[in-house]
Amino acid sequence: MPIPVIIDCDPGHDDVFALWLAAGHPALDLVAVTTVGGNVPLEHTTRNARIALSVAGVTGVPVAAGAARPLVRPLQTAEWIHGENGLGGPELPEPTVPLDPRSATELIADALTASAEPVAIIATGPITNVAILLRDRPELAGRIREIVWMGGSTERGNATPYAEFNALVDPEALDLVVRSGVRFTMVGLNVTHLALVTSGVREQIASLGTATADFGAELFDFFCRMNDEVFGMPDGPLHDPVAVAVLADPGCVEVRRTRLDVELLGIETAGATSVDLDGMLGREPNAWVAVGLDVDRFWAGVAASVARLA
Ligand code: RIB
Ligand code: CA
Repeated sequence: MPIPVIIDCDPGHDDVFALWLAAGHPALDLVAVTTVGGNVPLEHTTRNARIALSVAGVTGVPVAAGAARPLVRPLQTAEWIHGENGLGGPELPEPTVPLDPRSATELIADALTASAEPVAIIATGPITNVAILLRDRPELAGRIREIVWMGGSTERGNATPYAEFNALVDPEALDLVVRSGVRFTMVGLNVTHLALVTSGVREQIASLGTATADFGAELFDFFCRMNDEVFGMPDGPLHDPVAVAVLADPGCVEVRRTRLDVELLGIETAGATSVDLDGMLGREPNAWVAVGLDVDRFWAGVAASVARLA
C-alpha cells in the first residue's frame, strides 16, 4: 500500500527531483505539495513547484503556498546557488498546474483529515510550514505518520561554518518540530553530500529521453556549474530527494536513533544541529538521523521514478 506523503518544499533544483521522486515512485502516493520561502522568495518557490509538476505531467496534486518568511527571523535566500528565479538554467514554461487557494496549513490540515491513514510529511526547505501546522493545529499531530526533513548536518554547515541552509533560515521552526514529539528524521549534509550528480548520473537521467528528463538535465547543468563555482563541487550534491528516499526505499538510507538539539542563541552558530551520536550528553534520544546512503541504489530509484513521468 503506497505511503501517502505531503512534500513541503522551496524549489530549488534539488527540490524538483524530490517532487519527481515522490510523484514517480510506486511506494509513495503524493497527495499534496506546499511551498515555503527559502532558496528564493515564496512567489518563485510556489511557481517553481507548479512548473516541476507541470513538466512531469503530474495532475490532481494540489499545490498551496505557505510561509513567505521564517517564524521570527528575516528570510535569507540562496540565489547564489539556484539563480534569481530559483530554477536557473532551463527556460521555464508557464505552469499548467493551478495554485490552490488554500494556505499551506489549510491544505496540509485538509490532507491529514481526509486521509484514511496517517500521512508522512517530507520537508525539503526551511520547516516553517510544518511548525505553523503543529503550533496552530496540535490536534492533527496524531494524523502525521512521521516528518522527514532534508536539513542540518552531523558535521559542518553549508550556509555558515556550523549551519546548513534550511536550518539556518528557520531554526526556531526546526526546534518546535523536533520538540513536538512527532517522529522526526533529519537527513543532513553528512549524507546528502554523497548524492553527487556525477557525469554518470547525468548520463543516466539524460538517456531516459523524456521531456521530464531533458528538463532535469538542464537543471543539472546549472546546478553543477553553480556548486562548482561556489563550493568547488562540480558534481553538485542533490540534497532533497535523499529525504524522499528514506520513505520510498528505506533500505537505501541508513538512519540512527539519537539526540538532536538546535542552536538558537549562538551569534556564530545559530541554526547548528547538535547531533549527539555518541551519547555524550546523556539526553533522551528524540530523533532519527541519516548516517549512510547506498548511492547506486538511490540513483537507480531516482532514474526509475523520473522514467515513469511524462
Ligand atoms: O542545504 C541544502 C538545502 O537548502 C536543500 O534543501 C536546498 O534545496 C536548500 O533548500
Ligand atoms: Ca530545498
